[in-house]
Amino acid sequence: MRVVSGIQPTGNLHLGNYLGAIRNWVAMQDQMECFYFLADLHAISQPHVPAELAANTREMAAALVACGVDPDRSVLFNQAQVPAHAELQWLLNGTARMGWLNRMTQWKDKAGKNRDGQSVALFTYPVLQAADVLLYQATHVPVGEDQKQHLELARDIAQSFNSAFASEEAPVFTLPDPIIPPEAARIMSLRDGSAKMSKSDPSDMSRINLIDDADTIMAKVRKAKTDPEPLPGEAAGLEGRAEAKNLVGIYAAMTGQGVDAVLAQFAGQGFGAFKPALGEVLVETLSPIAERFNALRHDGEMLDAILAKGASRAREVAAPTLDAAYRALGLVRG
Ligand code: TYM
Repeated sequence: MRVVSGIQPTGNLHLGNYLGAIRNWVAMQDQMECFYFLADLHAISQPHVPAELAANTREMAAALVACGVDPDRSVLFNQAQVPAHAELQWLLNGTARMGWLNRMTQWKDKAGKNRDGQSVALFTYPVLQAADVLLYQATHVPVGEDQKQHLELARDIAQSFNSAFASEEAPVFTLPDPIIPPEAARIMSLRDGSAKMSKSDPSDMSRINLIDDADTIMAKVRKAKTDPEPLPGEAAGLEGRAEAKNLVGIYAAMTGQGVDAVLAQFAGQGFGAFKPALGEVLVETLSPIAERFNALRHDGEMLDAILAKGASRAREVAAPTLDAAYRALGLVRG
């Protein structure tokens, strides 16, 4: 059993990343061997500033450690130090189909009407993501719901490659299962309950960043969009109230309770009472993370050492699978 997951080092970690994925990353360290990486190769699929990418890669490493990813127990690295990711992507490009990639909703969303103007990397991005997990024979991939389709594609690619180039008894790749937390599969924007919380949203008020200070968190929650109705007594009463549903869901995920338990506590109350309670719950968990992050973020040498150590282990573990893929394709390697 092996856990593998990644995050793009663009911008700050936000509450969606934390509840959808990172919290599970931390929990899974106790149960299985874990590989967590900064998807810097994915980050160049869209316009970027090189100096910012380098700084963000180290900052994101610091943020993950601050959240509880332990580089002594988990393998923490960035893709760029493990060339096997890019190599395996090329080998899988022969198996992936244009039609499969054309169906990816993230591609459609990001490309919009201007497909011809997008980079080839944005289109083939999910093949690199498949390589990321197949390279390590991942069995479990903890992600938010928006990555589910990419994981299904990785399974299709693995299955297709195995049946074309390997035997049933000795497959080259393991089919990975996504692990999606039901209570926090999709955290929505604080300004619009129909859009997911995202680092690419131009409004910083739409998201809680893990490094926001207490006053900022309280203000963002206070200004979050809601409706004038009081909170209902049970989950069914949240249907059609996207913003209310999102805030109650965040409270439930943060406190480890079910939505019904949260509603039992706040039934009949308005957001004037609920929002400060939610803000406090957020501050209580996020303040220590921000404090640890601020202590780590400027220690570039230590962060580089963590990433170098992780990359060295990742290269070692990736090598046999990469080798098996080359051989299965009939590529001669001496
Ligand atoms: P990224 O960097 O956009 O997000 C990192 C993780 O956070 C989750 N997430 C959310 N979960 C719930 N609600 C939200 N609003 C929310 N926003 C983000 C994402 O689902 C993800 O788990 N393509 C990936 C990175 C990647 C990867 C991989 C992931 C590259 N290779 C291999 C898993 C396995 C991405 O851009 O995630």
